[in-house]
Amino acid sequence: MADVPAFPVPTMPAPPVGVVGLGQLGGSLAAALVAAGREVGGWDVDPAAREAAAARGVRITQEFTGVVVLAVPLPAMTTALEGLAIDPAATVTDLGSVKVPVLETLGAAFGGRFVGGHPMCGTERSGHAATDPALFAGARWALCLEPGTELPRWLRVAEIALAVGAEVVPVTAAEHDDAVAAISHVPHLLAAALAAAAADAGPLALALAAGSFRDGTRVIGSDPAFVTAMVEGNAAPTAAALARVRAELDRPWPELVATGNAVARRAADRRTVRVPLERAALLALGRAGGAVHRRLAAFVEGWLPDGSA
Ligand SMILES: NC(=O)c1ccc[n+]([C@@H]2O[C@H](COP(=O)([O-])OP(=O)(O)OC[C@H]3O[C@@H](n4cnc5c(N)ncnc54)[C@H](O)[C@@H]3O)[C@@H](O)[C@H]2O)c1
Repeated sequence: MADVPAFPVPTMPAPPVGVVGLGQLGGSLAAALVAAGREVGGWDVDPAAREAAAARGVRITQEFTGVVVLAVPLPAMTTALEGLAIDPAATVTDLGSVKVPVLETLGAAFGGRFVGGHPMCGTERSGHAATDPALFAGARWALCLEPGTELPRWLRVAEIALAVGAEVVPVTAAEHDDAVAAISHVPHLLAAALAAAAADAGPLALALAAGSFRDGTRVIGSDPAFVTAMVEGNAAPTAAALARVRAELDRPWPELVATGNAVARRAADRRTVRVPLERAALLALGRAGGAVHRRLAAFVEGWLPDGSA
């Protein structure tokens, strides 16, 4: 992580962005980019989603150049571009919640032009009615850097994430899937298990349920098809992460409670770092728990948690 003076990137024309799938995530991204002054085209199989996006300034089209963002449900990822005209020079990215299976199909189809991504935001709502242009502000956005990923294309997608207020976390698809199994996919399963067990406890228990139950089960309202596609699409890492949770539950309760509390009390301080535009250095930032928040000329600027190497 070098220490060099900051200077702005020479202004390059920002490429047009095409968003395929204009539901919660795609509709929100398209709307946020329009608000940021970017040229945005979009497509959705649902005429109502197209109409809602058009009302927010998205140009409805089936022809895409620049950066194409796939924001469709995971099962539709491999087929959604069929029938659309995609410029052979376009960069293709996606917002899917699981990265290895998407990399296996879209990576095979587009090679180094494909950059897998996953913004860590969204709610239990779905569809275009859940569009929120502020959805990405302050969110982490995992962006995959595989050995074959073309770095200039990775940067183009990173700049889209930065333009809507997100911070970019460089990862590999496999590292991403292991990490999100622990912090997203297992919590979805635990929320379902908590809710089912509370329902078994009877109406009195549900009537008394308050803050901790509400917080622990917030995501049970998510579309079951979305959650199922996510956990089944990341089955092995999710099973491994669930086994770790089961092992934790077997610890003596005072020890378990104290260990969990220690995680909550970890220092939240950050220090700013400059990272060269090079795969190993970028991935090291992500692995250390850091993120990119700004693009400079030959560097990106980001932060690391205090105390990290
Ligand atoms: N919801 C979340 O919290 C969340 C968070 C991060 C990432 N993601 C990922 O983002 C993607 C989209 O999720 P979402 O929550 O926006 O879903 P959503 O259901 O709100 O929207 C999906 C949209 O895709 C459209 N669509 C379906 N098939 C299509 C096709 N073949 N061509 C064009 N459009 C098509 C649907 O009509 C719908 O408008 C998923 O891959 C999901 O894994 C979701």
